[in-house]
Formats: sequence, C-alpha cells, structure tokens
Amino acid sequence: MPKLVLAYSGGLDTTTAIKWLSVEQGYDVVALNIDVGMSREQPVVEARGLAAGAVKVRVIDAREDFIRYFAFPALAAGAVYQDAYPLATALARPLMAKLLVDVAHEEGASAVAHGCTGKGNDQVRFDVGIQTLDPALTIVAPTRENAMARETQIDYLRRHGVDIPWAAKGPFSIDENLWGRSAEAGVLEDPWEEPPPDAYEWTRSPEDAPATPAYLEIEYQHGLPVRLDGEELSPVALVERLNALGGLHGVGRVDHVEDRLVGIKSREIYEAPAAVILHAAHRALEAMTLSRQQIRLKKLIATEYAELIYNGLWFSGHHQDIAAYVASTQRHVTGAIRVRLQRGQAVVVGRRAAESLYDRALATYDRGDTYDQSAAVGFINIWGLQTRVQARRQLLGELPEALKIAMPREER
Ligand code: ARG
Repeated sequence: MPKLVLAYSGGLDTTTAIKWLSVEQGYDVVALNIDVGMSREQPVVEARGLAAGAVKVRVIDAREDFIRYFAFPALAAGAVYQDAYPLATALARPLMAKLLVDVAHEEGASAVAHGCTGKGNDQVRFDVGIQTLDPALTIVAPTRENAMARETQIDYLRRHGVDIPWAAKGPFSIDENLWGRSAEAGVLEDPWEEPPPDAYEWTRSPEDAPATPAYLEIEYQHGLPVRLDGEELSPVALVERLNALGGLHGVGRVDHVEDRLVGIKSREIYEAPAAVILHAAHRALEAMTLSRQQIRLKKLIATEYAELIYNGLWFSGHHQDIAAYVASTQRHVTGAIRVRLQRGQAVVVGRRAAESLYDRALATYDRGDTYDQSAAVGFINIWGLQTRVQARRQLLGELPEALKIAMPREER
C-alpha cells in the first residue's frame, strides 16, 4: 500500500482522517504529531493514533526550532498581522510543512495530509509550503474533500471499531502553540457579542489580575531576547515564563476582526502574552537604537513580512530578501527594557542600550546641554524654504481656502 504522512493533532478530525485515509484511500498512514507547545498529552495522542489504524505514530518536539527560527525572527521584524495578530498559528504551519516533507522522505511516503478545511488560511500555508519543498508529493486534505459533522465522525470511527470517549465539543475552535492561542466560532461569530469568559484560557481577566504590578527586565541581543531579570534563558523557557507571568496579569488579549487570505472576514480571539510583551519591548529598544529613517522603512517591511507569513509564503525568495534586511537592522538592537505588567497592560517604563542614539546631553533642559540652539534658526530657514516660496507663488491669494484644509467637512 502507498504510504502517507498525516499531520496529526490527536483531535477528532485528524483521528477520523487516519481511518478515512486507510479505508477509503488505501494508504498506510504514518501519523506525525508535531509539538509546538500545545497542551496535548503525548501518550494519549500516540495511543489514539494507533487505535485509529496508523501504522506508526511519530512525535517530534519542535518547540525549540519553532521559537528560534520562526517566532523570534518574526519578533525581530516586528511582524504583527493587521496590527493585532502576532501570527502564532501562521508561523507554526511552515515548520509543520517542512517536517511533513522531511518525514515523508524518511518513510518513503508518496503523499502527505493535513486536517485543514477549505475555508481558512492554514490549508494555504500547508499546501504552498509542501508544494514548494517537494512538488512530487501528493497532498490529501480529508476535511476539505469530505467534511463530516462531528457526530458522523464519531459514528464513522465506531463503525470501524475505534471507540474513543471524546470529550464534549468545546464552544470554540481552538489552535494554540507557544507563541499564542486562538479561538474562533460559536458565539464569537457575532462580532457585536463580547467574548464570554471561557473564550480565554491563558490570561486572567484584567479585573481579576493582581492590583500590584510586576516589573520585568528583558535583555535583547541583536534584536533577540536572551535574558529575563538578569537570567539567561533558552528561547522556549523565556517565552513560557512570559506567557505565565503575562497571563497572570491579564496581558495579551486581542479581539480582532481579521481578513483571511481567501477573502473571508473572521472574528478572532487571541491570547499571546509573551508575544505582546516581547513586541512592545522590542519596539521600545528600536526607538532607542535605530535612526528615524530606519524606523520608518522597517515599519513598512514589517507589514510586508506579516502579510507573507500570514499568506503562506514562508519558503520564498521574497522572504529571504526581507530576512536579510531585517537581520541587518538588528545589528545594534542590543540592550535592556523594563516593563510593568498590570491589569491587562504591558507598559514600557525604562530602556537602556550601550549603543543608543539617545543622547541625554542633547536632550536635556538642565545644565550640561551640548545642543546649539542658535543653529536651529538657520536650519528652520532652509527647512521651510520651499513651503514659503509655494505660499507666496500659489497660496497667498487663497489663504482662506488653505485654512479650510484643517477644518471639519461640514464647515467647508
Ligand atoms: N486566524 C488565525 C490564522 O489564520 C488562526 C487560525 C487558527 N487555526 C485553526 N485551524 N483554528 O492564523
């Protein structure tokens, strides 16, 4: 029988997929469970996969690679989709696509499969990633090809002798990894409806968070966080600690209506305490260490980078070009940021960098000022030159008109 490697979460959809791919499509299914930090119990996942008829269940701990090669580069770039979503799921998919292809090669498989529907972004990220890395592999998407209702799936499994006591269906559709958690569907589909408390799992509600703030000091080296409160931590440990601490203080909740690549607008609830804290601190460090022109261009690049990650183009020349630019911008982004966590907010309260462009002797209003105030007169004379000429030649007769530019519409 031909072999297929399935991205296996251990949930009902992909467990049904194991059976369906074996019975209906005639594959020997290798179930590949990739751990990027979701809260699933590995022994249970393995037992389920085998019970459903997988010839083998493989588990790969990809957490370190996920943070080091996917989440942290996105952090250094400042990549946040539509100024709201730190891209947790979107960043994990290309890593999963890569591992699916690697394992397919190791196992001598001719096909790979994933459990995505035909409505979302994840199918695009998987398919484009896989097609890019090995165009010869057949891609099967059971949920997209043959969607079954939950009860039908449970029935189907039972009819094939797989009797697993599935927990009751949760009120939302959840995806999570170390970089964040997302909740969709159920009552969240009404964008007017405030998310119920159980939409959140990682974060306390700000009003239940401690009144006393927590202070932390995050040290970055070339744009990457390396130390927390003076202690050197691995990327995974640092993110885990910030998720716990941020969650305790209600930091990292995002309620957002987002544009999927396929054109659907969808209401998403995210929790990403570590990502939110790390992005805020990183931005503050860049404000100290990058020039205004670098900040301006990098902001445009960050938007472009977020789009390419979101839209499944991780393995692309466009990405390589952007990554080279971002790496170059981070050469001097080294220093420490102090953050206060309190009641849902992560506020930067202090910053320090050896190669900072902030010069207190220039900024000060106290003694020790080295800035030459008299030089401002000549500077302003030149800076305003063209605007003065334009006013004289083109605008002066119409000054009342020119003033109205600044007024609200109704008064024009
Ligand atoms: N909307 C987010 C994204 O496209 C989260 C998707 C979560 N995935 C899922 N299968 N529930 O990245």
